[in-house]
Amino acid sequence: MQRLDAPVTVKEAMDYSLKAGGKRIRPILLLATLQAFRKDPRIGLDAAAALEMIHTYSLIHDDLPSMDDDDLRRGKPTNHKVFGEAAAILAGDGLLTYSFEVLAGTKGIPAEKRLQLISLLAKAAGPEGMVGGQAADMEGENKSLSVEELEYIHRNKTGRLLAYSVMAGAILADAGEQQIRLLKDYAFHIGLAFQIQDDILDVEGSEEKIGKPVGSDINKFKSTYPAILTLEGAKEKLRFHLEKSKEALAESDIGNGLLFQIADLIASRDH
Ligand code: IPE
Ligand code: IPE
Ligand code: MG
Ligand code: MG
Ligand code: MG
Repeated sequence: MQRLDAPVTVKEAMDYSLKAGGKRIRPILLLATLQAFRKDPRIGLDAAAALEMIHTYSLIHDDLPSMDDDDLRRGKPTNHKVFGEAAAILAGDGLLTYSFEVLAGTKGIPAEKRLQLISLLAKAAGPEGMVGGQAADMEGENKSLSVEELEYIHRNKTGRLLAYSVMAGAILADAGEQQIRLLKDYAFHIGLAFQIQDDILDVEGSEEKIGKPVGSDINKFKSTYPAILTLEGAKEKLRFHLEKSKEALAESDIGNGLLFQIADLIASRDH
């Protein structure tokens, strides 16, 4: 953020959440996909940074009092707790727009490919993707949703950005059509698995490890997989999606095992 010519408060608030930590699973997925195609991961660094900025913006806004109203994120007080609500909204806005500036300015990638990456990211993060999922999540509070409705929420609020991580890596690596199709399948299933585990950790995780409050979903009467299917049912769904992701990956015959390891990590993580 040093290079940004912006008011200190907004830069500080953007920096605070970005540097608060986090697992960096989206950048890791993008770079691991490049590695699976034996490409130099450095060609994906700008896209990976852009992705993490969009994700961090979504977390800052997700924690706001008007949304999930949470006080702890990545083991630290949430952005609005430190900087106030207006600054937190602007920090999110700043990360969202700066992310596209970084992606558009990527060096060494043909303009056509950059345009494709920009357009896919906008779609994944926007009203037909993450924003749409977040809207449905908010509308679903205090209601009992069907598994199909819940899957729509999870697929969009979380799945789409995770899927983009893999797709961006595949595009940068010049993957073929068939490989893209199978990686899309892989990414779809790990996306759902990721959010199911997030729901499970909200029930049986440790606040110290996850760095955010346990029980936030129950307190907000959110529909989650454990709430709808019981904890055991949620774990079964998780295993199902893990298996499906690995099947797709095995069929694609791509890579050196790293993407398999990431799928396992997503399903067994404790933070
Ligand atoms: C949390 O994402 C929000 C969801 C989409 C489930 P992460 O679990 O990836 O959060 P960080 O980046 O590690 O903090
Ligand atoms: C939020 O889902 C996903 C996004 C921020 C897009 P959650 O509300 O379940 O995420 P956490 O549990 O607060 O990290
Ligand atoms: Mg939420
Ligand atoms: Mg939340
Ligand atoms: Mg959650």
